[in-house]
Amino acid sequence: MAKVKTVRREPGEVLIEMKDICKTYVMGEEVVKANDCINLVIRMGEFVSIVGKSGSGKSTFMNIIGALDVPTSGQYLLGGEDVGDMTQNELADIRNRMIGFVFQQYNLLPKLSILENVELPLLYARVSSSERRERAMKQLERVGLQDKCQNRPNQLSGGQQQRVSIARALAGNPAILLADEPTGALDSRTSGQILRFFKELNEEGNTIVMITHDNSIALQAKRVVRITDGKINFDGPAAEYAEVIRAGQLAEARPAAAGKLAETGRSEESERPEETGRPEETGRPEEVG
Ligand SMILES: Nc1ncnc2c1ncn2[C@@H]1O[C@H](COP(=O)(O)OP(=O)(O)OP(=O)(O)O)[C@@H](O)[C@H]1O
Ligand SMILES: [Mg+2]
Repeated sequence: MAKVKTVRREPGEVLIEMKDICKTYVMGEEVVKANDCINLVIRMGEFVSIVGKSGSGKSTFMNIIGALDVPTSGQYLLGGEDVGDMTQNELADIRNRMIGFVFQQYNLLPKLSILENVELPLLYARVSSSERRERAMKQLERVGLQDKCQNRPNQLSGGQQQRVSIARALAGNPAILLADEPTGALDSRTSGQILRFFKELNEEGNTIVMITHDNSIALQAKRVVRITDGKINFDGPAAEYAEVIRAGQLAEARPAAAGKLAETGRSEESERPEETGRPEETGRPEEVG
């Protein structure tokens, strides 16, 4: 049984450590290696995007990172704890302690107020009601939505709902903010606001892992991990990834070119980042009409 221990939160500390992680799905005769021998270390204070095309294995990988699923083989240490042999209850427990989830479709409960939504993870963590309210309000202030605390989710814009979901993720004081296509349902202006907010949160010391299929969004992180056919074929600074996709080097997959580019043995389509027309200024997410 996995040993439960208190997580130290020190900059540079290893939060995610994966050794030869594989996830295989068997569909009748067909065996799909959705994640194929992934080795990855993510430290406290990083802002990492996991990028890949549809079917490359991102969701599979996110489910493993977030302890929503366990790998078929390999070892995953989350905050130093081995996730591989955990029971469903232990997985739920480590998720509560370590991960704050942000989903594309916000996943807010429609019948609860904004404040009650943000309080929810604290309720699961058995935090007292007065402390829940205080911590949830603090997070709503942080995302600039304290005035909307009594509203229902459907009374808010998409960008506002996503900010509520970020507040909910932060309320549990997680070691890692794990975001799955967090701007996937938003227009480019609102996406820019959410990404700038992630950058601010990262500058404040939060560790962020963001899953996306979009290179231009992936480049907003500090480090990019690229998945192709379930394998990592790039892992390095965003600036280096920008160079690699500009030069079309992922099609060649030459290890010497970027230092961290691995052989894939297959060609890919154009990898140029898309234009988003996103403004570059920084600041808190603003209200959108
Ligand atoms: N539960 C499952 N059973 C069988 N095969 C699966 C299952 N989940 C995923 N796969 C397969 O594993 C591969 C990776 O899927 P995954 O959902 O991780 O891709 P993705 O990168 O998230 O794609 P998208 O961008 O479209 O969401 C695909 O070939 C997919 O068909
Ligand atoms: Mg997916």
